[in-house]
Amino acid sequence: MAAKTEIRDLSGHVGGSATLTGWVVKNRPSGKISFFELRDGTGVCQCVVEKSESNDSLFEAARRLSQEASVEVTGAVTREERAVGGYEVRLTALTVVGASQEYPITPKPHGIDFLFKRRHLWFRAQRQWLIMRVRATIIDQIRRFFNDRGYILVDTPIFAPAAGEGSQTLFKVDYFGEPVYLAQTGQLYLEAACMAHRKVYCFGPTFRAEKSKTRRHLTEFWMVEPEIAYASLSDVIDVAEDFVCSLAERVLTDHRQELIELGRDVAQLERIRKPFYRIRYDEAAELLRGPKAKALLEKDLAAKTSRLAELDQKVAELEDRQKQGGVKQWEKDKAAAEVIDLREERSELTDQIANIPHHMKLAAEFEWGGDLGGSDETIISRLHDRPVFVSHYPKHVKAFYMREARDNAKVVENFDLLAPEGFGEVIGGSAREEDYDRLLHRIHEEGLPQEDYEWYLDLRRFGTVPHGGFGLGVERTVAWICNLKHIREAIPYPRMMGRFYP
Ligand code: 4AD
Ligand code: MG
Repeated sequence: MAAKTEIRDLSGHVGGSATLTGWVVKNRPSGKISFFELRDGTGVCQCVVEKSESNDSLFEAARRLSQEASVEVTGAVTREERAVGGYEVRLTALTVVGASQEYPITPKPHGIDFLFKRRHLWFRAQRQWLIMRVRATIIDQIRRFFNDRGYILVDTPIFAPAAGEGSQTLFKVDYFGEPVYLAQTGQLYLEAACMAHRKVYCFGPTFRAEKSKTRRHLTEFWMVEPEIAYASLSDVIDVAEDFVCSLAERVLTDHRQELIELGRDVAQLERIRKPFYRIRYDEAAELLRGPKAKALLEKDLAAKTSRLAELDQKVAELEDRQKQGGVKQWEKDKAAAEVIDLREERSELTDQIANIPHHMKLAAEFEWGGDLGGSDETIISRLHDRPVFVSHYPKHVKAFYMREARDNAKVVENFDLLAPEGFGEVIGGSAREEDYDRLLHRIHEEGLPQEDYEWYLDLRRFGTVPHGGFGLGVERTVAWICNLKHIREAIPYPRMMGRFYP
């Protein structure tokens, strides 16, 4: 086989010839000239074959190419501003590697369930391709950030004998006749490791039996967790702040174009700079009950209601157009596709509008002592123009291991980081209770079996120190950075209640 060029390197071949291998995205054959778009995993370019006396079979072969057929092509490379990707290849040779008949994901709109059942093919779509590239960079930066700062990677087990984050979301597994659970966190094991290495992190899949179907929850997600010995709450928050800034900066450097293509307003990401806001739970509660939260939701309601009217009018117009005489078939198809999109937006909007009064009530009547709900987090983050750390939550809504504030036993030294624009919690973290008696008391209070945590209590028996850390959810971060409405597109194969194929 001839030497192969990747599409991303085409600029170095302008004026010469190149051999590419890839898949056909779209074919637009016509009488005398055939255009098709080729993607090779590194980019997309336009291929052209002009019919001439000497190239009948080449022209025929190009004309017959169907969506997602795999091909090897050779041709002359030119710069072509108007073509996708900016280059054009005028073919002199074409070989079909693998045929593709009736590829199920056509350019027309498909429902989300249809697409997720075909996730194995949907990966090839441009938008999904972009998201996975940004995800890979975020993961690379996660590792780089901690490796560059002297953190030691310690892999924690996935089969866990006890709960790490609350017993309601445990997945039970039969381990040779004994029950064990899929890990909800690596944190407890990391706490042990930080007493050996000082600064450690783990990074892996995490499991939560989340029975609710929300746009922020998966049952299997990836989490990075750093843990630091001799660290206070504010030390840990400082690390989280630097860390999130480094993620935003790296993605902006490497993927500005991709982000724009994904519809992300990059100016919003450019704002991700120190210092983030730092407020306490008490202040968050006051904000929720106050006039700013109310005004925000009232404004939302008005904006969404007027958008709904606009959508209804557009749909009516498009439907009229389809019924009119003298309209070409392709115009009718285009109108029909637009109607599908608008209807989808309409149905999301009606749900949102229906929820606003409920969210208003939740916020207005927010009582000290409860956890912040998804809509509460959205409100707080939207009332700020940079990420917000919310700290010092009531002890009884948080995990047993969190350090009790020494000046107020009702709250713990924890924090959540709320991403901007309503994306909600991307990080949860805390100082850990280093005092043996207080920790044991909390274990009993939560009704946890002490014998399961004896090894963990050992860490407080033998040279205990103040320490802390946090966990960042990869998919929530990808959804925020890529501006995805739902977390399910942020992971290659989403696992949610009722969704585990393929
Ligand atoms: O707040 P969480 O539950 O904290 C912990 O697990 C701690 N052990 C972390 C630590 O201190 N070492 O989860 C941390 C983050 C959340 O902020 C969120 O980004 C993500 O993990 N997360 C989820 N992502 C997707 N689906 C779910 N069901 C998630 N639950 C948590
Ligand atoms: Mg949390």
